[in-house]
Amino acid sequence: PRNIYFSRHGESLFNVMGLLGGDSELSARGKQYARALPELLSTHIPNADRLTIWTSTKKRTIATAKHLPNKKLAWQALDELEAGKADALTYEQVEEQFPEDFAKRDNDKYNYRYQDGESYRDVVQRLEPVIMDLERQDNVLIIGHQAILRCLYAYFMNHSFERLPYLKIPLHTVIQLTPGAYTCEERRFKVDI
Ligand code: F6P
Repeated sequence: PRNIYFSRHGESLFNVMGLLGGDSELSARGKQYARALPELLSTHIPNADRLTIWTSTKKRTIATAKHLPNKKLAWQALDELEAGKADALTYEQVEEQFPEDFAKRDNDKYNYRYQDGESYRDVVQRLEPVIMDLERQDNVLIIGHQAILRCLYAYFMNHSFERLPYLKIPLHTVIQLTPGAYTCEERRFKVDI
């Protein structure tokens, strides 16, 4: 059967510093994940060389795909949820500088839209063409971002909007989904680094 694969980008410098958004490079650990990916895929996935890789247009997803010989496509629609005024801040700084926003997001994370930025609801909408294309494709590996993969994962696993923004999509893990009649079968392949 057809499979869909998701992975977050390798750990980025912004991840290490606890900063939101941005367009940072991979950390040393993130680069290690990128180097480990070809073997991880060829170990667990039959015909791994025939996967198509979709990334965002951000450096960290493109760098994560760097060592893979596969066909690649970079989608702007896969870029991370735009945090607008909160971009490149820590959660603590957001709380200090925009206390009302911070509380609003806490109350309704799915619908909260960052000032000059996006909500999860916005992201779900911009992912529609990606999902339509994905449904038509053979095996695809999406190397994406936390919020984006929460939306895609929730779509395929039928999770509610309420749960979607809190789904756990760990770093350095490839998630395999095999679509079935109602829900998907799931496997996870983790790299210990
Ligand atoms: O921390 C990594 C990150 O991808 C940020 O760039 C992004 O703003 C955040 O996760 C999304 O997660 P949450 O919606 O839980 O803040």
